[in-house]
Amino acid sequence: MISKKKKISIIDVARVAGVSPATVSRVLNKTARVSPELSGRVISAVKELNYVPDPFAHGMRTKRTKTIGLIISDITNPFFPELARGAADCISSSGYSLILCNTDAEPRKEKEYAQLLLNKGVDGLMFTSLRVGVENIRSIMDEGIPCILAGRKTDDIKGLNHVVTDNYKGGCIAGGYLFKLGHRRFLHVSGPLDNSTGKERLAGFLDTLREYGVDERDITIINGDFTMKGGYESAEKILTLKPYPSAIFFANDAMAIGALQKFWEERIDIPEVFSIIGFDNVRISALIAPPLTTVSQEIYEIGRLSAEILIKIIEGERGENIILEPKLIERRSCRCTG
Ligand code: RIB
Repeated sequence: MISKKKKISIIDVARVAGVSPATVSRVLNKTARVSPELSGRVISAVKELNYVPDPFAHGMRTKRTKTIGLIISDITNPFFPELARGAADCISSSGYSLILCNTDAEPRKEKEYAQLLLNKGVDGLMFTSLRVGVENIRSIMDEGIPCILAGRKTDDIKGLNHVVTDNYKGGCIAGGYLFKLGHRRFLHVSGPLDNSTGKERLAGFLDTLREYGVDERDITIINGDFTMKGGYESAEKILTLKPYPSAIFFANDAMAIGALQKFWEERIDIPEVFSIIGFDNVRISALIAPPLTTVSQEIYEIGRLSAEILIKIIEGERGENIILEPKLIERRSCRCTG
């Protein structure tokens, strides 16, 4: 379990006293008036549990370090630098500093970095995946360290705010666009399906095609991993299929770009052979050949808004959840079949 202190926490005291952790904090730090009755309950619980406030945690509450940790999973995916840029701009203009960690999507590294950032006394943590583990995020939040999820969401952690794109709608946009271009044989290279992002993009795509009456047998799904390498490998698989699909929806641009490399190596004409649509609208997607048609997310804003909300929480205000709208960006990687 990731924890600043593995002993009795303020949460335990709050539970025994039957008050909120904030009330315990007010009593112990004398930062606000609390009724004698509640105060008495807190003091009794402190004695009963032998609770000793962590001097470092206390320092964090009163003298902040003015640093925020951002944990990203894949710095080679152009999505993350743009998200980090949005976060960094907000963080520095608010008088905080950013510590950025890259985990290569490895849960072990994610936990190690989270622990490292806590040991450095960050005032808050921004996560871009849940690989650190739901329990660990809960425990970090229980210790009074604000967290936020940028570009992902979960219902499994009460009080964890998020800024995310409407991924289901994005999947619908991709499906509807390809269908209206006249395509009837589809393939989706999904993101990891253990998170809401991958699942919702797939669900939106499938639901839309079903609504248009597309037969399940005309939809192939390949499980992807959101990486360029994964995209390249998915293209190798696609080239073994008979018959080919005519339209491919990649769950992110990084995979679409990886696949385009393979198609280029094999001299496959895009969009003549395959119409390709991505998801993200990373900057480089406009610069490749052919320029990639994609479903855009406001990546910079996801980072900026997440940081803004996190700083509000750190400074004692309420957090909020934000869902951003996806938008179709038409370029040259899809063709009309009619
Ligand atoms: O994990 C990375 C992916 O998730 C990004 O490419 C973006 O699509 C995000 O939502």
